[in-house]
Amino acid sequence: MVSRRSFLKRAVSGAAAFTLGNTFSSLAFDSAGRVNGANDRIRIGMIGVNSRGKGLASGLSKLKDCEITRICDVDSRAIAKCQATVRQITGKTPAGEKDIRNLLESPDVDAVVIAMPDHWHAPAAIMAMQAGKHVYLEKPTSHNPAENDMLVRAVAKYGTVVQVGNQRRSWPNVIAAIDELKAGVVGKVHYAKSWYVNNRPSIGTGKAVPVPEWLDWDLWQGPAPRREYRDNIVHYNWHWFWHWGTGEALNNGTHFVDLLRWGLDVSYPTKVDSIGGRYRYNDDWETPDTQLITCQFGDRASFSWEGRSCNSLPVDGQPLGVVFYGETGSLYLTGGNDYRIADMKGKTVKEVKSDLKFETGNLLNPSEALDVFHFRNWFDAIRKGTRLNSSLVDACISTQLVQYGNIAQRVGHSIEIDPVSGYILDKDPEIRGLWSRKYEKGWEPRV
Ligand SMILES: NC(=O)c1ccc[n+]([C@@H]2O[C@H](COP(=O)([O-])OP(=O)(O)OC[C@H]3O[C@@H](n4cnc5c(N)ncnc54)[C@H](O)[C@@H]3O)[C@@H](O)[C@H]2O)c1
Repeated sequence: MVSRRSFLKRAVSGAAAFTLGNTFSSLAFDSAGRVNGANDRIRIGMIGVNSRGKGLASGLSKLKDCEITRICDVDSRAIAKCQATVRQITGKTPAGEKDIRNLLESPDVDAVVIAMPDHWHAPAAIMAMQAGKHVYLEKPTSHNPAENDMLVRAVAKYGTVVQVGNQRRSWPNVIAAIDELKAGVVGKVHYAKSWYVNNRPSIGTGKAVPVPEWLDWDLWQGPAPRREYRDNIVHYNWHWFWHWGTGEALNNGTHFVDLLRWGLDVSYPTKVDSIGGRYRYNDDWETPDTQLITCQFGDRASFSWEGRSCNSLPVDGQPLGVVFYGETGSLYLTGGNDYRIADMKGKTVKEVKSDLKFETGNLLNPSEALDVFHFRNWFDAIRKGTRLNSSLVDACISTQLVQYGNIAQRVGHSIEIDPVSGYILDKDPEIRGLWSRKYEKGWEPRV
């Protein structure tokens, strides 16, 4: 007899075929239909559910071939809110759990979704793989390049299926656009650019205050060396502190650098530079609020990513996007499931629009209707052994490109990279220090 776990681990040929073309309308939760294939439902544990995790839980709850069995967070309020979201959609309340280590021991969890702060991404993903769980890991893959090395070794060693939250890799029109690009629709492309703009307010100057009763600050910090609790870190503002976060570059830049790398068909660069700074407010925010990262790939190609966290004037009419400049025209990705091709005079020669929209103003869940394509691709890889659209190995390269940018920014000069190994050639001890991080004793990730 085939056990449930081995079903979820093996490649299945006769299993129900789910195609990339399925959308919420065809996959919508069907309370009567839940009986069908119930034993094959992938049981999911959500880890980190304040904002993005809650959005993902909402999307997953609408699919009939998975079930959220557990919700883990160190904020008791976030657990309750996410439980209510799932209950409202499915009628069932997943169990709440504070400690990730307990969740990973749960036999009723086949796979986990990690939407924790960035300092937790690689350590949590490695722990999950060691526990035999499949993983949906939010981007960026890691906090620093050394963790990418660990992740790549871990996925080879533990062999579970790890999808990274670069969801645009699964959006049908984005796939079609990249296919057209690679087929030469705008000729050879040597340069591309991407951008993200916003009007983020100041985070002020934090005060040391008692840890709120709803938060386990020790578990929130996990692998990061201990710091006193201050009132402007949890939630979300950790993004702007190097100790936990990775700045706008890895918060939003990772998505678009991943698209640039995919479209240009490049891997590691030869040279990376960054200019910018924290200009707008004099507060605790440490990462740049204005940043231009450039990546050179020998004489083959180059690209740039521009981030403006405190001035949201759009570029080419879009608050976020990607443009590939070819020898015979240009191809634009809007950041949603749309694209446009222009000739050398800028005249639109083709426009593909989608009914499934990326909702720019929706901060919590801008792409719920589209994320399902990425979940579906993950489930197929778990069930049938099919190809992941954002595998961990590939996503670690995209993440690392942006991490080089942050390293160049912090050391104040460009850095040279071995395009085969991805290692930085410069022996500068400051660069070496930024390649990895110090861990809290007892929490060091080990593969
Ligand atoms: N793919 C996307 O489009 C997308 C969109 C938004 C955010 N994200 C990513 O999702 C991640 C989370 O972002 P956010 O905006 O939701 O941040 P957030 O700070 O609002 O939420 C993080 C949650 O993780 C919880 N957490 C911290 N330590 C934990 C632990 N040890 N165990 C369990 N839970 C823990 C926090 O309490 C919080 O509820 C980030 O890495 C971000 O880059 C991805």
